[in-house]
Amino acid sequence: MKYNFDEIIDRRNTDCVKWDHDKIEGSNNDLIQMWIADMDFKVPMEVIESIKARADHGIFGYTNFNDQYFNSIMNWMKKHHSFDISKEWIVSTSTIVSALYWIVQTYTSVGDKIIIQTPVYHRFKGAIEDNHRVILENPLKEVDGRYYMDFEDLESKIDSTVKMIILCNPHNPIGRVWTKEELTRLGEICLKNNILVVADEIHCDLVFKGYKHIPFASICKEFEENSITCIAPTKTFNLAGLHMSNIVIPNSELREKFNLTLKLNAMGSINIFGMMALIAAYEKGETWYEEMMEYIEGNYNYLKDYIDENIPKLKVTKAEGTYLAWIDFKALGMSEEKLNKFLIEEGKIVLNEGSVFGKNGEGFGRMNFACSRKILEEALNSLNKAINNI
Ligand SMILES: Cc1ncc(COP(=O)(O)O)c(C=O)c1O
Repeated sequence: MKYNFDEIIDRRNTDCVKWDHDKIEGSNNDLIQMWIADMDFKVPMEVIESIKARADHGIFGYTNFNDQYFNSIMNWMKKHHSFDISKEWIVSTSTIVSALYWIVQTYTSVGDKIIIQTPVYHRFKGAIEDNHRVILENPLKEVDGRYYMDFEDLESKIDSTVKMIILCNPHNPIGRVWTKEELTRLGEICLKNNILVVADEIHCDLVFKGYKHIPFASICKEFEENSITCIAPTKTFNLAGLHMSNIVIPNSELREKFNLTLKLNAMGSINIFGMMALIAAYEKGETWYEEMMEYIEGNYNYLKDYIDENIPKLKVTKAEGTYLAWIDFKALGMSEEKLNKFLIEEGKIVLNEGSVFGKNGEGFGRMNFACSRKILEEALNSLNKAINNI
């Protein structure tokens, strides 16, 4: 391995949301932070060098995106996902969450319904409800620890007030990498009912061996025209603090509308370091990326085997991608409140509580395993000890 993902880097006292969280909450500093979705790994050295070189120039005035920026996005998506993107389809924004808010504002009106498939990344709910739109929940079905889309439920709920679906592909927190068949069936239902598909594909690169990410828009021309795809190098290369994402809108009418929203919100300027980081990551980060994927898949297998062998009361959902494990704690028989207190006070670990992702997430916890193996071992040992002491 060229990169050392075993290295433990202290992130405390760096204003880091993940590791400085307990300080904000006012508790001890001894909790193991396994929540939120960023990695504890140092980014590729090529990214650090690129940012340093730009910093050395010493002038950080107004800047334009250059061609290399767009080419690196197009080349990465083509190489890794066979997704052919034209330069003019790309609209750059700061974060994906801000883009989701603007997307909701652009294509729907107050009172319109927007579908989400729970349990799902909780900021989808915020983007809908904060904008006074209405959530139409199409809960995923769990069968023997694997989650599926429930098309019958979806079709039975659709009416003329449903305008959009926010699809999570691959799906946070349950770790499914949706198949072409599943996406095709979903896309056809949406086409038939004039529902715009917003595909949040931020986790697209984080796919385990044996699975393949299918960009929704790449399936056919009709889906391409009826979709907006959100991508970013931020999850893949651990760059969330640099605020950069790209919204792919092949349909020119839809794109014009989105650009107008950005204009009305005065969203024009770019983050110089975000641009440099994206180019370096996509153009020179391949080895780091491959090694990181080996490492996190190894972490997932370690976590799953550990829990299956040592804490069989818990059930780990089979993950096909992402670095987030979805763990069923229901057999402990604790209420959500009691479970969270138990995990923090006895287990000494911080997870995302399952109910944040939807009502059907109650009794689950989401564990971020993008950390050194040693930290993961410590977290699991600490959890095991706490459960044995019940
Ligand atoms: C599905 C999904 N979309 C968006 C985000 C956040 O993206 P950003 O930091 O660009 O807002 C996350 C972070 O966990 C996520 O899981």
